Amino acid sequence: MGPLSAPPCTLHITWKELLLTVLLFIFWNPPTTAQVTIEAQPTKVSEGKDVLLLVHNLPQNLTGYIWYKGQIMDLHQFITAYTIDTETIISGPAYSGRETVYSNASLLIQNVTKNDTGSYTIQIIKRGDKIKRVTGHFTLYLETPKPSISSSNLNPREATETVILSCDPDTQDVSYLWWINGQSLPISRKLQLSENNRTLILFNVTKDTAGPYECEMKNPGSSSRSDPVTLNLIYGPHVPRIFSPLTYYHSGRTLYLSCFADSNPPAEYCWTIDGKFLQSGQELSPRITTEHSGLYGCSARNSATGRERSTFKRIKVF
Ligand SMILES: *[C@@H]1O[C@H](CO)[C@@H](O)[C@H](O)[C@H]1NC(C)=O
Ligand SMILES: *[C@@H]1O[C@H](CO)[C@@H](O)[C@H](O)[C@H]1NC(C)=O
Ligand SMILES: *[C@@H]1O[C@H](CO)[C@@H](O)[C@H](O)[C@H]1NC(C)=O
Ligand SMILES: *[C@@H]1O[C@H](CO)[C@@H](O)[C@H](O)[C@H]1NC(C)=O
Ligand SMILES: *[C@@H]1O[C@H](CO)[C@@H](O)[C@H](O)[C@H]1NC(C)=O
Ligand SMILES: *[C@@H]1O[C@H](CO)[C@@H](O)[C@H](O)[C@H]1NC(C)=O
Repeated sequence: MGPLSAPPCTLHITWKELLLTVLLFIFWNPPTTAQVTIEAQPTKVSEGKDVLLLVHNLPQNLTGYIWYKGQIMDLHQFITAYTIDTETIISGPAYSGRETVYSNASLLIQNVTKNDTGSYTIQIIKRGDKIKRVTGHFTLYLETPKPSISSSNLNPREATETVILSCDPDTQDVSYLWWINGQSLPISRKLQLSENNRTLILFNVTKDTAGPYECEMKNPGSSSRSDPVTLNLIYGPHVPRIFSPLTYYHSGRTLYLSCFADSNPPAEYCWTIDGKFLQSGQELSPRITTEHSGLYGCSARNSATGRERSTFKRIKVF
């Protein structure tokens, strides 16, 4: 029992104690990965439906739970609380009458409204000498409805009219996206998005910018796309062309001429010979004599654009 034998022994115990303390510390403090998680069931909820916020990884030995609206434990935002020992439910100032807390901490929200979207916080109170609290967070989003595109004008005149497309409905907390021909919008002076991207202005619409357009509504929980919308561009007529299967025209045979000009809506046609009205219609097929030689004119007219274009063909009958 010499004083020299004591220090190594003390040192030995100290290390053991230290090791034990460290092991106990690790053992009694579960890794933070085993955190409370909250899951919505169903994962996608639309207005008027019910949603259950399921709480997973609930710690052991609890006295109760408190649910809050928002990201912080603000007493004004206290919805409802559950005390395990007495099995009592308490309602707070943020209780709407549609929330039910269960003994397993899950929260049922019935008849979900737009107001119910946003963050939720659960505070879990553990039993013990010192009150320990664990919190969990969840953000509730409503399922985006299928949007639709409305247009200020579905039949714009080419290169002259401006069209405003809107993605409906107008909802907050969603982002709007547009697609043309299945692609994201090109950068162009002729396309202009509103500040929230809900409306798209098409200046001087041309074939390139007539569509098809689709719009998409998106929030972090869901997204949905509209049906495609293509503008019925009103244009033309372009310069008409006269088609004829024959190169030489012999008396007694049937002359066949047809005229075409690209136009929307389709053009109305009429024929002239040497400046005199002959007949209306896209085709001309008279039985001919040498008297039918002359300058044939075809004119195409689009009543929607109010434009008219003509073309001429000289025909000599032998
Ligand atoms: C909790 O209780 C609710 C209501 O009884 C139930 O629907 C849910 O499955 C339970 N489980 C969890 C993990 O919340
Ligand atoms: C949910 O809405 C339906 C129909 O509007 C109504 O009958 C019911 O009472 C509502 N439930 C709650 C809990 O508000
Ligand atoms: C949503 O909240 C606003 C402001 O808090 C309130 O005026 C409105 O009545 C609420 N709507 C519903 C359907 O609860
Ligand atoms: C639960 O808490 C009580 C009171 O503090 C304590 O006596 C008991 O040992 C705890 N049980 C568990 C399993 O942690
Ligand atoms: C609008 O869309 C553009 C891309 O086209 C995007 O960069 C921008 O963040 C969007 N703005 C909003 C408010 O969603
Ligand atoms: C649209 O057309 C008008 C008239 O041709 C022209 O003055 C205007 O600059 C055009 N706007 C754009 C954005 O091209």
